[in-house]
Amino acid sequence: MKIPFARPYLTGNEQKYINDILANIQNGAQISGDGPYGKKCEQLMEEKFVARKVLLTTSCTSALEMATRLINIQPGDEVIMPSFTFVSTANPVVIARGRPVFVDIDPDTLNIDPTKIEEAITPRTKAIYSVHYAGVSCAMDEIMSIAKRHGLWVVEDAAQGVGARYKERHLGTIGDFGCYSFHETKNITCGEGGALVINRDDQELIERAEIIREKGTDRSKFHRGQVDKYTWVDVGSSYVQSDILAAFLYAQLEAMDEMNQRRMEIWNDYYTQLKPFEESGMIRLPVIPDYAEHNAHIFYILFRDLIVRDIIMDRLKKDKIHAVFHYMPLHSSPQGKKERGDQTSIPITDEISRRILRFPIYSGMNSKEINYVISIFEKIVTNFL
Ligand SMILES: Cc1ncc(COP(=O)(O)O)c(C=O)c1O
Repeated sequence: MKIPFARPYLTGNEQKYINDILANIQNGAQISGDGPYGKKCEQLMEEKFVARKVLLTTSCTSALEMATRLINIQPGDEVIMPSFTFVSTANPVVIARGRPVFVDIDPDTLNIDPTKIEEAITPRTKAIYSVHYAGVSCAMDEIMSIAKRHGLWVVEDAAQGVGARYKERHLGTIGDFGCYSFHETKNITCGEGGALVINRDDQELIERAEIIREKGTDRSKFHRGQVDKYTWVDVGSSYVQSDILAAFLYAQLEAMDEMNQRRMEIWNDYYTQLKPFEESGMIRLPVIPDYAEHNAHIFYILFRDLIVRDIIMDRLKKDKIHAVFHYMPLHSSPQGKKERGDQTSIPITDEISRRILRFPIYSGMNSKEINYVISIFEKIVTNFL
């Protein structure tokens, strides 16, 4: 048996909705962006997540770039974020010639530790980018109150958090902006895609976001008949998602609850079957705080150290089980060292990144596959000890 790390799940309607566009091209069906399926996706998310405004984008990276432009990060401005994250959290800040300021994570949730944020704030700090690792919410009340006290923007990198909640509220709808990913590896996907959530009740901000998404033009207003021609009005890029991808995504969003529910069953199965290994002190299982309703995006375990982790990961690979570790912390990556050569050690981030192993998880994973992963893991661990 071969177990991939992730595999997209098809609901059955992806093809139907794409065919709907293809069959109607001669009658004017749109394949560029901001079309009928894109609007349906945005509306579905706005209603389901109770979000002020959702704009579909080409990726979560694009959404983070848009948010960074919307808060006007200037050269030298500082943005607080974890180092234990994907490059897309930091890249937009660096592109704007700002400075990422890495703050350590909480060893339980692997999310930014709110008790360490305030000591990292300086007069140049403009924003906090909070990353909901594994779809488990950051401590948002604490983060929002620090931001309020210091007049900072909050951008939620909810790439992994689609459908997850913090105290009943959907991730991505709590900060000033939320950014989602619909990359192939995510719970809900269209191959490559994302969304920007704008939570401030600020029409000017929403209109500027539309302009940035449309290459810096007021084309969205033109399409709505609000201007008679469109032109270059701000600096932007090409962040609108094609309606073909939006058609695929719409099928997935409609089935979000069932798909996340299925992942949760797999996650719970892993958790229950691996509990004895935690009790024997071999591994540590994920910790889900009371305030978080996660979406089972990642199932990870923590080993004692790097050596044990790497040996077990290699042996799983030999049995065709693709388990991975993420992230390589940004501060110790080649580009991270160029950006922040002074932040050489971030203790909990450094330690966790050496101990973590992520198991395969996808909505279509069947119990045979889960049991295979567990039985191979059991065999490796028993031989290893
Ligand atoms: C925390 C985080 N932020 C951003 C991204 C980027 O998402 P995308 O591939 O949609 O640009 C990812 C993707 O894995 C991620 O995990």
